[in-house]
Amino acid sequence: MNVIESLRVELGERGYDILIGGGLLAAAGTKILPVLRRPRVFVVTDERIADLHLAGLERSLETAGIAFDAFVLPAGEETKDFTHLQRLCDRLLESRIERSDALIALGGGVIGDLVGFAAAITLRGLDFIQIPTTLLAQVDSSVGGKTGINSVHGKNLIGAFHQPRLVLADIEVLDTLPRRELLAGYAEVVKYGCINDPAFFAWLETRGLDAIEGDPRARNHAILTSCRRKAEIVAKDEREASGARALLNLGHTFGHALEAECRYSGELFHGEGVAIGIVMAADLSVELGFCSQEDAGRIRNHLAAVGLPTGLEHIPGRVWSVESLMDHMSRDKKVADGKMTFVLLRGLGEAFVTSDVPPEAVKTLLTQAVATT
Ligand code: GLY
Repeated sequence: MNVIESLRVELGERGYDILIGGGLLAAAGTKILPVLRRPRVFVVTDERIADLHLAGLERSLETAGIAFDAFVLPAGEETKDFTHLQRLCDRLLESRIERSDALIALGGGVIGDLVGFAAAITLRGLDFIQIPTTLLAQVDSSVGGKTGINSVHGKNLIGAFHQPRLVLADIEVLDTLPRRELLAGYAEVVKYGCINDPAFFAWLETRGLDAIEGDPRARNHAILTSCRRKAEIVAKDEREASGARALLNLGHTFGHALEAECRYSGELFHGEGVAIGIVMAADLSVELGFCSQEDAGRIRNHLAAVGLPTGLEHIPGRVWSVESLMDHMSRDKKVADGKMTFVLLRGLGEAFVTSDVPPEAVKTLLTQAVATT
């Protein structure tokens, strides 16, 4: 029997439930119906996910008596741009969408971010529901209301905070994910343990691989705990104004620089960049005297044990430039008053945000990392 876990993101009138478990896609219609203002939705997905899951979702909407229209976009990061946003908004308006209708984002982070943004701006705000189909989207991007598209100036630079009305994370859809993509999402799971939940990190050391392999109880627990940690942080700091939400960027300052250097290609997935970034942030924390070697070692060892990259030597065939990496970091959108912002560790589960890191220390760390390649 499928166990469905439920968790509330406490944001007052913008609060919503996250449901996690097997079989949620087949039950989506009945789960969605109570949050709809009227039984009419627009499902937006990509070609790859449409082949795998659209028919199942449509059947369940039909059974629940929900009228629907579906719009299928090309798969890939390139879809998260102005052209596809415009196409989507035009298509919704052509279909005479009304304020009481809702959008459903069926897909990974690209679809979730794009559809969420379209929902934020079409008719000045529509309801939307997230049905994330990747591990990364289930534990991170579908939760917390960050929506948006990429610009020629960088990733996610155009967007809005717009919370979904419901998130349905069906753990069975993860069975269709390529292993590499699943692992990349797992880096974000490990991130939560490192930020503020050392007991969860210890659990991952023993049961993380089971969650990756598809054990339903382990998967439910890993996703539920990740979403719970994220929901708590989002409830404290919805708009990343007080610093609490910035903790979620652990591993991202280094990770984004690596991704930018690889031109956001399949050479390095976002989650892989985050895995290496977390190791670098832990090493920098050791270097600056904040964190023990032992804790940093546990993080590196666990990421390596599940098969994630932990250093530049795991991205073969690239010549790295310290200057270029430093340049990407200095352009990061987290730069404030010209200073780079880092999330560092005082230990496992004790992350903190600082803009007080000497650039020389970062440069030394990157120089050592490049020397391993
Ligand atoms: N992915 C980071 C955040 O949602 O704030």
